[in-house]
Amino acid sequence: METLLLKGKPVLDSIKEALVPRVENLKESDIVPQLAAILVGDDPASHVYVRNKSKAFERLNCKSKTYKIPADTTEKDLLELIDSLNKDIEIHGILVQLPLPKHLDSKKILNSVSPKKDVDGFHPENLGLLLEGSPNFIPCTPSGVLEILKYYNIPVSGRHAVIIGRSNIVGKPMFALLAQKFEIGNATVTIFHTGTKDIAFYTKQADILIAAVGLPNMVTGDMIKVGADIIDVGINRVDDDSEKGYKLLGDVDINSVMGKANSITPVPGGVGPMTITMLLVNTIKSAEKSKKYTLDYC
Ligand code: GUN
Repeated sequence: METLLLKGKPVLDSIKEALVPRVENLKESDIVPQLAAILVGDDPASHVYVRNKSKAFERLNCKSKTYKIPADTTEKDLLELIDSLNKDIEIHGILVQLPLPKHLDSKKILNSVSPKKDVDGFHPENLGLLLEGSPNFIPCTPSGVLEILKYYNIPVSGRHAVIIGRSNIVGKPMFALLAQKFEIGNATVTIFHTGTKDIAFYTKQADILIAAVGLPNMVTGDMIKVGADIIDVGINRVDDDSEKGYKLLGDVDINSVMGKANSITPVPGGVGPMTITMLLVNTIKSAEKSKKYTLDYC
């Protein structure tokens, strides 16, 4: 069996093309979609991610302002910054880069972002709406996965989707999306995690396998079903002797599934670049809403 590589680039190119006229439309009303990204501390991977975000926004004539905050900032100062951004009419999306330093209460910080500007979709109100079946902002990585499934015509309805990992960022919202009667959804969904006893028992039943655990090469060819469609969300930095000093590996050992899987997203170049594109989608959507509801937007 030839295994199809589900690359992110053609998917995000088609999404961005559709965003261009929407940005132009907003410009006619003097609105430029703007993201405020808050980066606390100096986690190198987070710095790369935030820099890539800024570039993607600028390329689409949108704005992205980064707030670099020292690692020892107080919760009070961070909450004050978020409060001022909630009230700023020119800011349409607020993103707090995770993980936050240990002394900060992540839940409290994320809950302080206005649900109207919560382009990450992490606020309990937005997570609740998603679970209820009427999503407002959908978390970016899971919605990027749906776009990949849609673009490559991977059937979802009636199939067994198995999700590895129960994070709030990927696993849980991915479950909420795939299990519902949405255009891309209506799957039978199993979600497993560190409490699961026989991992391979579940992975072998997966028509669609979504790996989001952060363990390099955790899934190997002997653990999958012939013809499975595999979405690898893992981006793991593994030290090597290259110039950079590391390479990126997914949660799936791609070489061992080639020829057995129907398709797989590569790492890098699969799900990763989709996340930033979906952030653009959410920020532009928020800007469009701000136009309609100028009076109660902030
Ligand atoms: N850290 C890893 N992924 C994400 C994401 O999608 N959003 C935020 N805010 N932080 C992250």
